[in-house]
Amino acid sequence: MADKATLTIGDKTIEMPVLKGSTGPDVVDVRKFYAESDMFTFDPGFTSTASCESKITYIDGDAGILLHRGYPIDQLVEKSSFLEVCYLLLHGDLPKADEFEKFEHNITYHTMLHAQFDRFFEGFRRDAHPMAIMTGAVGALSAFYADSINVDDPREREISAHRMIAKMPTIAARAFKYHMGQPFVSPRNELSYSENFLRMCFAVPAEDYVPNPVLTRAMDRIFILHADHEQNASTSTVRLAGSSGAHPFACIAAGIACLWGPSHGGANQEALEMLEEIGTVDKIPEFIEGVKARKYKLMGFGHRVYKNFDPRATAMQKTCHEVLGELGIKDPLLEVAMELEKIALSDPYFIERKLYPNIDFYSGITLRAMGFPSKMFTVLFALARTVGWISQWKEMFEDPGRKIGRPRQLYTGPTERDYVAIDKR
Ligand code: ACO
Repeated sequence: MADKATLTIGDKTIEMPVLKGSTGPDVVDVRKFYAESDMFTFDPGFTSTASCESKITYIDGDAGILLHRGYPIDQLVEKSSFLEVCYLLLHGDLPKADEFEKFEHNITYHTMLHAQFDRFFEGFRRDAHPMAIMTGAVGALSAFYADSINVDDPREREISAHRMIAKMPTIAARAFKYHMGQPFVSPRNELSYSENFLRMCFAVPAEDYVPNPVLTRAMDRIFILHADHEQNASTSTVRLAGSSGAHPFACIAAGIACLWGPSHGGANQEALEMLEEIGTVDKIPEFIEGVKARKYKLMGFGHRVYKNFDPRATAMQKTCHEVLGELGIKDPLLEVAMELEKIALSDPYFIERKLYPNIDFYSGITLRAMGFPSKMFTVLFALARTVGWISQWKEMFEDPGRKIGRPRQLYTGPTERDYVAIDKR
């Protein structure tokens, strides 16, 4: 590949460097383009634009490849744990035994929330969506940690990252308990990350939660599968918010707000609600006709990057079968999902548009079987993605070329005109 790109505009030729990644597409460096051409590049939706340089996650959407720091997602799901993946994303390599022990201790011993913090939850209506509670609560957390405000100090950044990973399960479980009208359950240090989260969600004063290794492993896998996904909408939001030097917890709150949308993390709730709406296999053809008539989308299908298959969906489907098998649940929605997938994958409408099931297609059925209401699904996604957001945020600060994010625009509004008094309009 050439190391320079040239662009001719009228009688002017502009040369731009081509930068090479370790794998994947090269990029044309347009940073000096405006200065040299007096023009902007135009790319709403960032379909052709790399917004940053990153060493964390690599996706090849055509081949269905997802690597974290070089490690394939299927190997991490099978062999690793969520906390080990957290260390990997944050620090770049898998931890040695002593490094992991220290990291696990650090996370485990920062899971508690300030007692005053609990009062925030009471301000919300009981029927508030748990994602609304998460957005507000995580933003509020920045008010409690003014000591880690110096984002230019690597140690303070690390402390913020640990606090965020440690406290998210506690906040997420409180959002769940508040929504259910049950008392909060405090974290316990002797439990693993996922066990602790499940206990904080499902223990009640009348009965403690007895961990089930299959469900703990499923929870851990779901967290691994959602841990990072390079420069998606919410991660780009966190980077953009962070680029101004804002408090990291406030940046994560911005990421949570973005994740909530149905085109992004909110799709897992919508995918399950869609399956519930279809209800039975015989209703699928009619539903598919509605999709083709563009009345609605097939939720849990399609992806901006994956145009062949989503490797996370494959692992998610396996976990779904394991959980349902363990709990002895015969969920008619699984039957609907499998049939819908089969029909969609053989229908030219979906084949032509390269629409494949994404991770959200099977995660809802799994989480429902585990006892989570559909409104909690995106909260669990936010919990898991926190490590990705904070790793990307940290990486941005380690980049000496960091600049505040400031996109430009193609202006198509009115040109300059004079103010007209109200009685003359
Ligand atoms: N159902 C039906 N048609 C679809 C779907 C879908 N789920 N997704 C895309 N299409 C169609 C579009 O209508 C379009 O058709 P056209 O070319 O005839 O106009 C074509 O496929 C291309 O779609 P785009 O919208 O251009 O694809 P884009 O990359 O912008 O969108 C997205 C990706 C947002 C994920 C989209 O596929 C979608 O809305 N899917 C459903 C929601 C979902 O599951 N989101 C989760 C994403 S994964 C995650 O966040 C974890």
